[in-house]
Amino acid sequence: MSEVNELVRTAAAMVAPGKGILAADESIGTMSSRLEKAGVAPTEENRRAYREMLVTTPGLAVGVSGVILCDETFGQSFSDGRPFPVGIAEAGILPGIKVDTGAKPLAGTPGETVTEGLDGLRERLARYAALGARFAKWRAVIAIGDGRPSYRARRANAHALARYAALCHEAGIVPIVEPEVLMDGTHQVSHCASATSMTLGEVVAELLDFEVRLDGIVLKPNMVVPGKDSGQTVTPEHVARSTVGTLRTVIPDLVAGIAFLSGGQGAAQATANLNAMHGQEAPWPLTFSFGRALVDPALAAWRGRADRVADGQRALAHRVGCNSAALEGKYTDELEYERVV
Ligand code: 13P
Repeated sequence: MSEVNELVRTAAAMVAPGKGILAADESIGTMSSRLEKAGVAPTEENRRAYREMLVTTPGLAVGVSGVILCDETFGQSFSDGRPFPVGIAEAGILPGIKVDTGAKPLAGTPGETVTEGLDGLRERLARYAALGARFAKWRAVIAIGDGRPSYRARRANAHALARYAALCHEAGIVPIVEPEVLMDGTHQVSHCASATSMTLGEVVAELLDFEVRLDGIVLKPNMVVPGKDSGQTVTPEHVARSTVGTLRTVIPDLVAGIAFLSGGQGAAQATANLNAMHGQEAPWPLTFSFGRALVDPALAAWRGRADRVADGQRALAHRVGCNSAALEGKYTDELEYERVV
Protein backbone atom coordinates (compact mmCIF):
# COMPACT_ATOMS: atom_id res chain seq x y z
CA MET A 1 0.00 0.00 0.00
CA SER A 2 1.39 3.42 -0.91
CA GLU A 3 0.42 4.96 2.46
CA VAL A 4 2.53 2.35 4.19
CA ASN A 5 5.43 3.01 1.82
CA GLU A 6 5.14 6.70 2.61
CA LEU A 7 5.42 5.99 6.36
CA VAL A 8 8.46 3.82 5.82
CA ARG A 9 10.07 6.46 3.58
CA THR A 10 9.41 9.21 6.13
CA ALA A 11 10.86 7.13 8.97
CA ALA A 12 13.98 6.44 6.87
CA ALA A 13 14.30 10.15 6.03
CA MET A 14 14.20 11.03 9.74
CA VAL A 15 17.31 8.93 10.36
CA ALA A 16 19.05 9.64 7.04
CA PRO A 17 22.87 9.50 7.11
CA GLY A 18 24.46 12.54 8.74
CA LYS A 19 21.15 13.93 10.00
CA GLY A 20 19.40 14.09 13.36
CA ILE A 21 16.19 15.50 14.80
CA LEU A 22 15.91 18.81 16.65
CA ALA A 23 13.63 18.58 19.70
CA ALA A 24 12.19 22.08 20.16
CA ASP A 25 8.92 20.91 21.70
CA GLU A 26 9.23 22.05 25.31
CA SER A 27 5.82 22.66 26.86
CA ILE A 28 4.75 26.27 27.46
CA GLY A 29 5.68 25.91 31.16
CA THR A 30 9.13 24.41 30.56
CA MET A 31 9.95 26.85 27.76
CA SER A 32 8.84 29.80 29.84
CA SER A 33 11.09 28.86 32.74
CA ARG A 34 14.07 28.31 30.39
CA LEU A 35 13.47 31.75 28.86
CA GLU A 36 13.26 33.33 32.31
CA LYS A 37 16.53 31.70 33.35
CA ALA A 38 18.13 33.19 30.22
CA GLY A 39 16.79 36.62 31.18
CA VAL A 40 14.05 36.66 28.52
CA ALA A 41 10.43 37.54 29.38
CA PRO A 42 8.37 34.32 29.05
CA THR A 43 5.77 35.68 26.63
CA GLU A 44 4.00 33.91 23.78
CA GLU A 45 5.81 36.20 21.33
CA ASN A 46 9.25 35.43 22.82
CA ARG A 47 8.57 31.69 22.68
CA ARG A 48 7.63 32.17 19.02
CA ALA A 49 10.65 34.35 18.22
CA TYR A 50 12.99 31.86 19.92
CA ARG A 51 11.66 28.94 17.87
CA GLU A 52 11.76 31.02 14.67
CA MET A 53 15.42 31.87 15.42
CA LEU A 54 16.18 28.14 15.78
CA VAL A 55 14.37 26.75 12.75
CA THR A 56 15.45 29.48 10.32
CA THR A 57 19.13 28.79 11.00
CA PRO A 58 20.81 28.92 7.57
CA GLY A 59 21.71 25.46 6.29
CA LEU A 60 19.87 23.68 9.13
CA ALA A 61 18.57 21.00 6.73
CA VAL A 62 22.13 19.77 6.11
CA GLY A 63 22.28 18.17 9.56
CA VAL A 64 18.64 18.18 10.69
CA SER A 65 16.00 15.93 9.13
CA GLY A 66 13.09 16.97 11.32
CA VAL A 67 12.03 19.42 14.02
CA ILE A 68 9.66 18.52 16.85
CA LEU A 69 7.35 21.36 17.88
CA CYS A 70 4.74 21.69 20.61
CA ASP A 71 1.11 22.56 19.93
CA GLU A 72 1.62 26.28 20.59
CA THR A 73 4.43 26.67 18.04
CA PHE A 74 2.69 24.43 15.51
CA GLY A 75 -0.12 26.99 15.35
CA GLN A 76 2.19 30.03 15.21
CA SER A 77 3.76 31.72 12.18
CA PHE A 78 7.15 33.07 11.13
CA SER A 79 7.44 36.86 11.05
CA ASP A 80 6.90 36.66 7.26
CA GLY A 81 3.47 35.12 7.89
CA ARG A 82 4.20 31.49 6.95
CA PRO A 83 2.90 28.98 9.49
CA PHE A 84 5.75 27.11 11.25
CA PRO A 85 5.01 23.72 9.65
CA VAL A 86 4.96 25.34 6.18
CA GLY A 87 8.17 27.32 6.68
CA ILE A 88 9.96 24.27 8.08
CA ALA A 89 8.83 22.04 5.20
CA GLU A 90 9.94 24.72 2.70
CA ALA A 91 13.39 24.59 4.28
CA GLY A 92 13.55 20.86 3.45
CA ILE A 93 12.91 19.71 7.02
CA LEU A 94 10.12 17.42 8.24
CA PRO A 95 7.72 19.09 10.70
CA GLY A 96 6.87 17.02 13.79
CA ILE A 97 4.52 17.49 16.72
CA LYS A 98 4.62 16.39 20.36
CA VAL A 99 1.20 14.92 21.09
CA ASP A 100 1.36 13.60 24.65
CA THR A 101 -0.06 15.78 27.41
CA GLY A 102 2.59 15.02 29.97
CA ALA A 103 3.62 12.50 32.61
CA LYS A 104 1.09 12.30 35.48
CA PRO A 105 1.28 10.38 38.78
CA LEU A 106 0.32 6.74 38.22
CA ALA A 107 -2.39 5.81 40.73
CA GLY A 108 -1.31 3.23 43.29
CA THR A 109 2.34 3.58 42.31
CA PRO A 110 4.06 6.27 44.40
CA GLY A 111 6.87 8.16 42.67
CA GLU A 112 6.08 6.88 39.20
CA THR A 113 4.18 8.38 36.30
CA VAL A 114 2.20 7.41 33.25
CA THR A 115 2.15 9.69 30.23
CA GLU A 116 -1.34 10.82 29.25
CA GLY A 117 -2.92 12.13 26.06
CA LEU A 118 -4.72 9.22 24.38
CA ASP A 119 -8.22 10.69 24.75
CA GLY A 120 -9.12 12.50 21.53
CA LEU A 121 -5.73 11.67 20.02
CA ARG A 122 -7.19 10.28 16.76
CA GLU A 123 -8.85 13.64 16.05
CA ARG A 124 -5.80 15.66 17.07
CA LEU A 125 -3.52 13.58 14.84
CA ALA A 126 -5.85 14.07 11.86
CA ARG A 127 -5.78 17.83 12.47
CA TYR A 128 -1.97 17.93 12.78
CA ALA A 129 -1.58 15.79 9.64
CA ALA A 130 -3.79 18.23 7.71
CA LEU A 131 -1.56 21.08 8.92
CA GLY A 132 1.55 19.29 7.64
CA ALA A 133 2.84 17.11 10.50
CA ARG A 134 4.86 14.19 9.15
CA PHE A 135 5.82 12.67 12.46
CA ALA A 136 4.86 12.84 16.13
CA LYS A 137 6.43 12.29 19.53
CA TRP A 138 5.24 10.77 22.81
CA ARG A 139 7.56 10.65 25.83
CA ALA A 140 7.19 8.15 28.63
CA VAL A 141 9.20 8.87 31.78
CA ILE A 142 10.75 6.03 33.78
CA ALA A 143 12.49 6.67 37.12
CA ILE A 144 15.19 4.54 38.77
CA GLY A 145 15.54 3.98 42.53
CA ASP A 146 13.79 2.38 45.54
CA GLY A 147 12.41 -0.53 43.56
CA ARG A 148 11.64 1.61 40.54
CA PRO A 149 10.88 1.16 37.73
CA SER A 150 8.01 -1.10 38.76
CA TYR A 151 6.55 -3.59 36.33
CA ARG A 152 3.27 -1.68 36.61
CA ALA A 153 4.79 1.64 35.51
CA ARG A 154 6.74 0.02 32.69
CA ARG A 155 3.69 -1.79 31.40
CA ALA A 156 1.31 1.19 31.69
CA ASN A 157 3.73 3.43 29.79
CA ALA A 158 4.52 0.81 27.15
CA HIS A 159 0.82 0.21 26.58
CA ALA A 160 0.19 3.94 26.06
CA LEU A 161 3.16 4.22 23.69
CA ALA A 162 1.86 1.35 21.58
CA ARG A 163 -1.67 2.77 21.39
CA TYR A 164 -0.21 6.14 20.41
CA ALA A 165 2.01 4.54 17.74
CA ALA A 166 -0.91 2.61 16.25
CA LEU A 167 -3.01 5.80 16.08
CA CYS A 168 -0.13 7.66 14.40
CA HIS A 169 0.07 5.04 11.67
CA GLU A 170 -3.66 5.26 11.15
CA ALA A 171 -3.16 9.02 10.53
CA GLY A 172 -0.20 8.50 8.17
CA ILE A 173 2.24 9.96 10.71
CA VAL A 174 5.52 8.36 11.87
CA PRO A 175 5.59 7.95 15.66
CA ILE A 176 8.72 8.71 17.64
CA VAL A 177 8.43 6.21 20.49
CA GLU A 178 10.27 7.70 23.47
CA PRO A 179 10.60 5.70 26.67
CA GLU A 180 13.06 7.81 28.67
CA VAL A 181 14.80 6.20 31.63
CA LEU A 182 15.87 9.24 33.65
CA MET A 183 19.44 10.06 34.67
CA ASP A 184 18.21 11.32 38.07
CA GLY A 185 19.62 9.30 40.97
CA THR A 186 22.66 7.67 42.47
CA HIS A 187 22.52 4.44 40.47
CA GLN A 188 25.45 2.90 38.63
CA VAL A 189 25.57 2.54 34.86
CA SER A 190 24.79 -1.20 35.12
CA HIS A 191 21.51 -0.34 36.87
CA CYS A 192 20.59 2.03 34.04
CA ALA A 193 21.34 -0.78 31.57
CA SER A 194 18.99 -3.22 33.32
CA ALA A 195 16.19 -0.64 33.76
CA THR A 196 16.53 0.39 30.10
CA SER A 197 16.49 -3.21 28.95
CA MET A 198 13.36 -4.07 31.00
CA THR A 199 11.59 -0.90 29.84
CA LEU A 200 12.39 -1.41 26.17
CA GLY A 201 11.40 -5.07 26.40
CA GLU A 202 7.95 -4.05 27.59
CA VAL A 203 7.66 -1.41 24.84
CA VAL A 204 8.57 -3.89 22.10
CA ALA A 205 6.08 -6.45 23.45
CA GLU A 206 3.25 -3.89 23.36
CA LEU A 207 4.21 -2.61 19.90
CA LEU A 208 4.10 -6.17 18.58
CA ASP A 209 0.80 -6.79 20.36
CA PHE A 210 -0.69 -3.77 18.58
CA GLU A 211 0.87 -4.91 15.27
CA VAL A 212 2.69 -1.62 14.84
CA ARG A 213 4.95 -1.72 11.75
CA LEU A 214 8.43 -1.41 13.17
CA ASP A 215 9.97 -0.04 9.96
CA GLY A 216 7.54 2.87 10.32
CA ILE A 217 8.68 4.02 13.77
CA VAL A 218 11.71 5.80 15.18
CA LEU A 219 12.73 4.77 18.69
CA LYS A 220 14.03 7.54 20.95
CA PRO A 221 15.72 5.99 23.97
CA ASN A 222 18.08 7.32 26.61
CA MET A 223 21.75 6.46 26.40
CA VAL A 224 22.89 4.04 29.09
CA VAL A 225 24.71 6.33 31.54
CA PRO A 226 25.34 6.44 35.32
CA GLY A 227 22.94 8.35 37.61
CA LYS A 228 23.64 12.09 37.85
CA ASP A 229 24.51 11.81 41.54
CA SER A 230 26.31 8.46 41.43
CA GLY A 231 29.82 9.87 41.35
CA GLN A 232 30.61 7.24 38.71
CA THR A 233 32.41 8.39 35.59
CA VAL A 234 32.49 6.27 32.47
CA THR A 235 34.14 6.80 29.11
CA PRO A 236 32.17 7.48 25.93
CA GLU A 237 33.29 4.03 24.73
CA HIS A 238 31.72 2.48 27.83
CA VAL A 239 28.47 4.39 27.25
CA ALA A 240 28.46 3.37 23.59
CA ARG A 241 29.10 -0.30 24.37
CA SER A 242 26.47 -0.47 27.14
CA THR A 243 23.91 1.44 25.12
CA VAL A 244 24.20 -0.45 21.85
CA GLY A 245 24.66 -3.75 23.70
CA THR A 246 21.45 -3.15 25.67
CA LEU A 247 19.49 -2.13 22.60
CA ARG A 248 20.71 -5.11 20.60
CA THR A 249 19.29 -7.57 23.10
CA VAL A 250 15.74 -6.17 22.89
CA ILE A 251 15.14 -4.02 19.79
CA PRO A 252 14.21 -5.87 16.60
CA ASP A 253 16.40 -5.14 13.56
CA LEU A 254 13.34 -3.96 11.65
CA VAL A 255 12.97 -0.69 13.63
CA ALA A 256 13.65 2.17 11.17
CA GLY A 257 16.17 3.91 13.41
CA ILE A 258 17.28 4.96 16.85
CA ALA A 259 17.45 8.69 17.71
CA PHE A 260 18.86 9.30 21.18
CA LEU A 261 17.65 11.97 23.60
CA SER A 262 20.29 13.89 25.57
CA GLY A 263 18.47 13.66 28.91
CA GLY A 264 20.39 16.38 30.76
CA GLN A 265 23.91 15.39 29.70
CA GLY A 266 26.16 18.32 28.86
CA ALA A 267 26.16 19.22 25.18
CA ALA A 268 29.74 18.11 24.50
CA GLN A 269 29.29 14.94 26.59
CA ALA A 270 26.23 13.87 24.62
CA THR A 271 28.12 14.46 21.36
CA ALA A 272 31.17 12.52 22.55
CA ASN A 273 28.96 9.59 23.56
CA LEU A 274 27.21 9.67 20.18
CA ASN A 275 30.59 9.78 18.44
CA ALA A 276 31.67 6.62 20.26
CA MET A 277 28.54 4.79 19.05
CA HIS A 278 29.99 4.96 15.57
CA GLY A 279 32.45 2.25 16.59
CA GLN A 280 29.63 -0.14 17.56
CA GLU A 281 27.97 -2.51 15.18
CA ALA A 282 24.22 -1.95 15.08
CA PRO A 283 21.47 -3.16 12.75
CA TRP A 284 19.67 0.23 12.71
CA PRO A 285 20.80 3.77 11.86
CA LEU A 286 21.79 5.59 15.07
CA THR A 287 21.37 9.36 15.39
CA PHE A 288 20.47 12.19 17.74
CA SER A 289 17.16 13.77 18.68
CA PHE A 290 18.53 16.16 21.25
CA GLY A 291 16.73 19.02 22.95
CA ARG A 292 18.89 20.75 25.55
CA ALA A 293 22.18 19.45 24.11
CA LEU A 294 21.39 21.26 20.84
CA VAL A 295 19.56 24.39 21.90
CA ASP A 296 20.99 25.49 25.26
CA PRO A 297 24.03 27.25 23.71
CA ALA A 298 21.75 28.91 21.14
CA LEU A 299 19.42 30.28 23.82
CA ALA A 300 22.40 31.57 25.82
CA ALA A 301 23.79 33.32 22.73
CA TRP A 302 20.45 34.82 21.63
CA ARG A 303 19.09 36.01 25.00
CA GLY A 304 15.93 37.36 23.38
CA ARG A 305 17.66 40.07 21.38
CA ALA A 306 16.81 40.70 17.74
CA ASP A 307 20.40 41.83 17.12
CA ARG A 308 21.70 38.46 18.37
CA VAL A 309 19.62 36.15 16.16
CA ALA A 310 22.67 35.36 14.02
CA ASP A 311 24.70 34.50 17.16
CA GLY A 312 22.02 32.10 18.36
CA GLN A 313 21.85 30.50 14.94
CA ARG A 314 25.64 30.13 14.77
CA ALA A 315 25.60 28.39 18.16
CA LEU A 316 22.90 25.97 16.98
CA ALA A 317 24.66 25.35 13.66
CA HIS A 318 27.85 24.57 15.58
CA ARG A 319 26.14 21.94 17.76
CA VAL A 320 24.38 20.42 14.77
CA GLY A 321 27.71 20.30 12.90
CA CYS A 322 29.45 18.61 15.86
CA ASN A 323 26.68 16.02 16.15
CA SER A 324 26.61 15.36 12.40
CA ALA A 325 30.36 14.78 12.53
CA ALA A 326 29.81 12.42 15.47
CA LEU A 327 27.50 10.31 13.31
CA GLU A 328 30.56 9.50 11.22
CA GLY A 329 32.87 9.14 14.23
CA LYS A 330 34.59 12.40 13.23
CA TYR A 331 33.89 14.56 16.29
CA THR A 332 37.09 16.00 17.74
CA ASP A 333 38.16 18.59 20.34
CA GLU A 334 39.31 20.86 17.51
CA LEU A 335 35.83 20.80 16.02
CA GLU A 336 34.23 21.42 19.44
CA TYR A 337 36.38 24.40 20.33
CA GLU A 338 36.36 26.12 16.96
CA ARG A 339 35.31 29.72 17.62
CA VAL A 340 31.64 30.10 16.76
CA VAL A 341 30.43 33.40 18.16
P1 13P B 1 16.65 16.32 25.79
O1 13P B 1 17.63 15.95 24.68
O2 13P B 1 16.88 17.69 26.36
O3 13P B 1 16.54 15.23 26.81
O4 13P B 1 15.23 16.44 25.09
C1 13P B 1 14.86 15.50 24.17
C2 13P B 1 13.42 15.33 24.22
O5 13P B 1 12.74 15.44 23.23
C3 13P B 1 12.80 15.00 25.51
O6 13P B 1 11.50 14.58 25.31
